[in-house]
Amino acid sequence: MTTLALAVTGRGLVDPTEPVIRADDEGLLRGRAAFETLRVYDGRPFALEAHLDRLTASAASIGLPAVERRRLQVLVGLVLPKASGGDASLRLVWTAGPTGGLPTALALLSTVPDWIEATRERGATAVSLLGVRASAPWLLPGVKSTSYAVNMAAEAEARRRGVDEALFVDDDGVVLEGTVTNIWWRAGETLFTPSLELGILAGVTRATMIELAPECGYRVQEGAYPLSQLLEAEEAFTTSSVREVMPLVEVDGRTLGRGPAADALQGTLRRVVGKV
Ligand SMILES: Cc1ncc(COP(=O)(O)O)c(C=O)c1O
Repeated sequence: MTTLALAVTGRGLVDPTEPVIRADDEGLLRGRAAFETLRVYDGRPFALEAHLDRLTASAASIGLPAVERRRLQVLVGLVLPKASGGDASLRLVWTAGPTGGLPTALALLSTVPDWIEATRERGATAVSLLGVRASAPWLLPGVKSTSYAVNMAAEAEARRRGVDEALFVDDDGVVLEGTVTNIWWRAGETLFTPSLELGILAGVTRATMIELAPECGYRVQEGAYPLSQLLEAEEAFTTSSVREVMPLVEVDGRTLGRGPAADALQGTLRRVVGKV
């Protein structure tokens, strides 16, 4: 993944190798910052307003200064031309700033990692790991903060076990979400996905899937489901803005069939964003 451009509040476009965060920013010191990652298709960000809505809600949950949407839109406008009309990954960050000081906003444009298409082709493998069900406000249910060290550690554990992804399951065995994805599986014409009431992130791609599923011939059922149901599914996949629809071919060593729903949804998503 190569960084293509960086824009920062008060400075505009800067050399991406330059330091831009103050050492006393609470975002750096305590992970008190909100972020978003979205896809740019042919130079256009997909669902930017939905991502800005979620960033605003995340910032409010962490008690950050209110997100100034216009500032972020300006930063996005500065970095987008560096996509040169192609696809890219766009990260937005809104920090707490130093105590009593001003937040910093960043827009960081990067290339889409090459491994994604290769993994979609072969199908991803995953392992379930114990995760925390965010059932109280201070556990930050549905908040996308930069305190992602736990998610990254789970991802590293998955790699250590020789698979691509980690799926969080709570201590009652209820399936939650991936470290950076939402999880789905299919039985017949029904797609199952964990409910937002479980404190998981309200994925923008998840919402898009709920919209697109009926035109692909599937109904969606949200709820609290045991891992055993996922392991017996006819197919499974994860979704996220950058990875889009990623088929899962193995979970906890159990081989899952490669099915039609993931391909149909991926194709429809690509059509919606104007790629095909
Ligand atoms: C924990 C978690 N769940 C789900 C998602 C998927 O969200 P989206 O579809 O908005 O990218 C993400 C995205 O990064 C995430 O970090």
